[in-house]
Amino acid sequence: METITNGVINGKESHSMSDREFFQKMYELIFKEAIEKTTAGKCKVSNFVHPQELKEKLDLAIKDEAMPPENILKLCQQTFDYSVKPGHPRFFNQLFAGQDLYGLAGQWMSDAINPSQYTYEVSPVFTLMELEVMKKLRELCGYKSGDGIFCPGGSIANMYAMNIARYKHCPQIKQQGLYGQARLVLFTSEHSHYSIKKGAAFLGLGTDNIVFVKCDEIGRMMPDHLEKAIIETKHNGGEPFFVVATSGTTVLGAYDRLDAIADICEAHGIWMHVDAAWGGSVLFSAKYRHLMQGVERTNSVTWCQHKMMGVPLQCSAFLVREEESIMHNGHCAAASYLFQKDKFYDMSFDTGDKSIQCSRKVDALKLWIMWKAKGNRGFEAEINQKFENSRHMADLIKKRDNFRLLMEPQCTNVTFWYVPPSLQSIPEGPEFWEKLAKVAPIIKERMMKNGTMMIGYQPLGDHVNFIRMVYANHATTTQDVDWIVDEIERLGHDIVIAD
Ligand SMILES: Cc1ncc(COP(=O)(O)O)c(C=O)c1O
Repeated sequence: METITNGVINGKESHSMSDREFFQKMYELIFKEAIEKTTAGKCKVSNFVHPQELKEKLDLAIKDEAMPPENILKLCQQTFDYSVKPGHPRFFNQLFAGQDLYGLAGQWMSDAINPSQYTYEVSPVFTLMELEVMKKLRELCGYKSGDGIFCPGGSIANMYAMNIARYKHCPQIKQQGLYGQARLVLFTSEHSHYSIKKGAAFLGLGTDNIVFVKCDEIGRMMPDHLEKAIIETKHNGGEPFFVVATSGTTVLGAYDRLDAIADICEAHGIWMHVDAAWGGSVLFSAKYRHLMQGVERTNSVTWCQHKMMGVPLQCSAFLVREEESIMHNGHCAAASYLFQKDKFYDMSFDTGDKSIQCSRKVDALKLWIMWKAKGNRGFEAEINQKFENSRHMADLIKKRDNFRLLMEPQCTNVTFWYVPPSLQSIPEGPEFWEKLAKVAPIIKERMMKNGTMMIGYQPLGDHVNFIRMVYANHATTTQDVDWIVDEIERLGHDIVIAD
């Protein structure tokens, strides 16, 4: 039987295993490690090794000679061993977590077909699939028309919004650039995601031209401060063109009041975008949808399905309510080798020129498969369960002596301090807060080294380091929540902070 092999030197096979055998073994390894062990929680979440030591353990160097497949398999086993496992039921470090087997199957299938999504002729099924999925996502936002595209992450989706809003405000910028342009100013809350800063820098708007609007005590943008800032900007010769509200802020999970912000944007003729990268999935839930009341009045939405919906990375939709052509017009470059004008089929299905990319990975399939398998009702049940987990955790924390809740959860984020017994007798003053700030990093170090779970921490404004638990993993049960609280107690109870 003829085999096509890697590592072929001068027409002779340099190793014993065919590519197909290698692939079969790789499949078995992935199945055992990612599915039988990781998703079942039968391994550590992390196996932390410092960078220099890890470099020594792994044979990373690329050489002139081919490596035999047996050795590659060994290296792949090591890759599993030393990788953090976001698919583990006890990974809560980021706003994405867990492993959905339908999603993974979709991801694998996309990778196996290896298409690129620019023209209908190259990706017929995926073009139609993306259009269908985008339509359903827009419907959930209450948009009656518009367009949408999958982006490589929520940060890029926010940049899309910024660019399209700017194109709407002054279309000539596409050709003429920023030269001679009035000072364009954008507005977002002080708790918004840092991708807004990156976007403003990347698109040449300048981070000095972002107004960070004050938030209330639970992290929501204050609409009266927004309006005041818009008026002041105009007075000072700036041109307000873009407001970013957030539905589900990264740390606190706050939902800005979209209706109140939409009133202001409509009155001043400003594009309103909502960054719902994290919190957008409430749109599936009859119980929690009200958190995004007014979403149908926004001009565009960022919504990452790879976050709370558990679709494998990356799956981030950028949706616009505007006329369908705006994304195409704002981004097209009409390359004649791809988008020929004399094709034999309906070329309106060559959707790729609305993207800022050329080659574009297919992200629709994994979401489409999961959506088919769960239906709207399935996603709704999962989102509700995540909210219930956060409620359960907050209630539990309030009953435990050594825990202190920062605020009631608004999304599936639960933010709190663990106060070890050694700090309980210190009066609440500078010494207490200074010492408390050192507790969360120690708990984090211990959980990483134990490998039992992963949860993030951060300071925020006047609040010293606190733990941010996030429920994005649909494998997490209320029993797991009880276990997590006990585990934090176990990891932290003997902490003593020296003077
Ligand atoms: C509110 C918000 N917007 C945008 C992003 C960026 O998304 P991504 O990490 O997919 O670029 C995040 C990431 O956590 C986020 O929390």
